[in-house]
Amino acid sequence: MHHGLAPRPGEDAITLGAQAQGGAQTQAQAQVQVQATAGAIWPQAADGAGEDATPGLVTWKTCAQRPTGSLSALRRGSLTFVGTGIRLVSQMTPEAMACIRRATKLFYLVVDGATETWLRRLNKTAESLADCYAQGKPRQESYVQMVGRILPCVRAGEEVCVAFYGHPGVFVWPSHEAMRIARREGFPAKMLPAISAEDCLFADLGIDPARDGCQSFEVTDFLLRRRRFDTSCSLILWQIGVIGELSVRLTAPYNSRALGVLANLLRRHYPAHHEVVIYEAARYPIGEPSILRVPLSKLGTVTPRAMATLYVPPRRSVRPVSARMLGRLGMATGARRDSRSRQRGA
Ligand SMILES: C[S@@+](CC[C@H](N)C(=O)[O-])C[C@H]1O[C@@H](n2cnc3c(N)ncnc32)[C@H](O)[C@@H]1O
Repeated sequence: MHHGLAPRPGEDAITLGAQAQGGAQTQAQAQVQVQATAGAIWPQAADGAGEDATPGLVTWKTCAQRPTGSLSALRRGSLTFVGTGIRLVSQMTPEAMACIRRATKLFYLVVDGATETWLRRLNKTAESLADCYAQGKPRQESYVQMVGRILPCVRAGEEVCVAFYGHPGVFVWPSHEAMRIARREGFPAKMLPAISAEDCLFADLGIDPARDGCQSFEVTDFLLRRRRFDTSCSLILWQIGVIGELSVRLTAPYNSRALGVLANLLRRHYPAHHEVVIYEAARYPIGEPSILRVPLSKLGTVTPRAMATLYVPPRRSVRPVSARMLGRLGMATGARRDSRSRQRGA
């Protein structure tokens, strides 16, 4: 999706990441990758669904140049996406770990050097996708390049595993796109579920989406498309640290005015004193999550980090039950009986 809000056929979303390739990294490199690996816009269903969103795929010599008589050329390729979770190593599922070990080709895009080193130890074929990013480069271009790096290996007969941080299908356009194309070409392709930032938020903030319901939006998409939302329901806004950033920007500050624009919009729906949470899940097993509570009136003064997510609690916790709907669902008698037994203290 672009600023113009009219996705080209098959063009869908923007998710970004950056990371220095290689094992050891400096603190500055680690900082760059954390800042750049946030950011996505997930637009509406593309008009031209079914068409490739990957024109001009970059071919990648690792797999594309394998001799046709080689073992991998005789195998049927496959593609699996896995997530590394948010917290270092500890949130990786056993099935994801097994897939990473088993793969004959591993790609990854993660946000910290420790996870990178660990993945490289688990699988010697590990290759970072972070060099698809560059300062000022439109993110969508980077995503298309990632897809173009992954697919030739599948076609060359490799058992390809791609590891993304968090959940591999949450705010990760290249995974969905590569899977769609691989399946269309007849290759087995799947995604394993993993722990996302939202899962951590539910745990750390003690929120059960069953209570009031939960709405979850990418924040730039939320603003640009004037998404409708229900103030009696939890509201989660992703990527508040990179509002309006469609190109990779490796250094802060990001669009500092943008959070004020968001705050003004929210102020039309919630009182000034309504407390919102700027949340960042702990990335290391010994760390604590960052939970910054601010009244809406102060939200515009905060500078969130690239990895922050905004949680807006419901304005009213309980929405009244519709008697008409109770009747239509055939629940009216049961509801009366339940309320009588509650009055009796049963
Ligand atoms: C490109 S998305 C990637 C999401 C990731 N695939 C997942 O499953 O959570 C990046 C956004 O995820 C959210 N995010 C990532 N890491 C986070 C963390 N440690 N705490 C809170 N939110 C986080 C932020 O909203 C950030 O801007």
